[in-house]
Amino acid sequence: MQKILVARPIFPDVIERLKQYFDVDWNQGDVLPADEFTRRLADRDGALTAGDPVGAAVLAAAPRLRVVSNMAVGYNNFDMAAFNAANVLGTNTPDVLNESTADFGWALMMAAARRIAESEHWLRAGKWEKWAYDAFLGGDLYGSTLGVIGMGRIGQALARRAKGFNMQVIYHNRSRVAPEIEAELNAEYVSKQDLLRRADHVVLVLPYTQENHHTIGAAELALMKPSATLTNIARGGIVDDAALVEALRSKQIAAAGLDVFEGEPKLNPDLLTVPNVVLTPHIASATEATRRAMANLAADNLIAALGEGPRAGRPPNPINPEVIGRARS
Ligand code: DGY
Repeated sequence: MQKILVARPIFPDVIERLKQYFDVDWNQGDVLPADEFTRRLADRDGALTAGDPVGAAVLAAAPRLRVVSNMAVGYNNFDMAAFNAANVLGTNTPDVLNESTADFGWALMMAAARRIAESEHWLRAGKWEKWAYDAFLGGDLYGSTLGVIGMGRIGQALARRAKGFNMQVIYHNRSRVAPEIEAELNAEYVSKQDLLRRADHVVLVLPYTQENHHTIGAAELALMKPSATLTNIARGGIVDDAALVEALRSKQIAAAGLDVFEGEPKLNPDLLTVPNVVLTPHIASATEATRRAMANLAADNLIAALGEGPRAGRPPNPINPEVIGRARS
């Protein structure tokens, strides 16, 4: 029987599926420290991860390892150059989380614009004594301009929802999306600078890469309207969190909604001191149905990549399909 490591606690019934095919070492505790993760991979043929960093040193210490299946659409925790050099396959879980993540982007954007978390904290603190015409005045979404940075599948799902709010949609992406998608979404392609100047609500849905590091920093925040909001459901590191704290404090922008942070699960402590930001712990895809779908898809990828099950040899979501069938190096 081939051997796998499941590096994180996941749904027990998915572990039972994996046990039909593999000898499973399942970490049910805290996130494995790097040295223990590496040690437990040493004799494994495959692994199921969720954000655990896998680079050249980890791969070199695991000579049998042929596939690492990430339970996430984002795979910035994988060093894909190292995967390719070692002929190790990486897989991810796209599509199944598009709608839940887009819903959550809206939830954060609306909470930021309408000051929901801030007013709830105030109410819980027993401060509500009277109705006031100017209590927690926020910004409208209906009829406003939505700026989407990153128009992939989640960005498109997010933009599709803007119709019901009668919003104008502008977007920026590495490349323009197909004309029929632009037409369906009624979305206008603009430069990043234009988007930041024009949007009332900016949402980040782009993958993290070195080039995207601090896509939003002090200079970009300075272009935004004082009434605008910024929502990040993409990855920590895309926003310069320290610059964002300053922009929120000085009311350079009105509010922000953040589900992801630089260096998470630790976060810049100053974020906790600014009231006009809504903070959530990387839960944009966290519905019962979607997380189950992600776990099962991660298992499908692992099973098929290791030559088992009905799709043996044809994993649904290879990131680097060119290494399939090559000997491990
Ligand atoms: C992803 O799938 O990349 C999400 O961030 C969930 O972790």
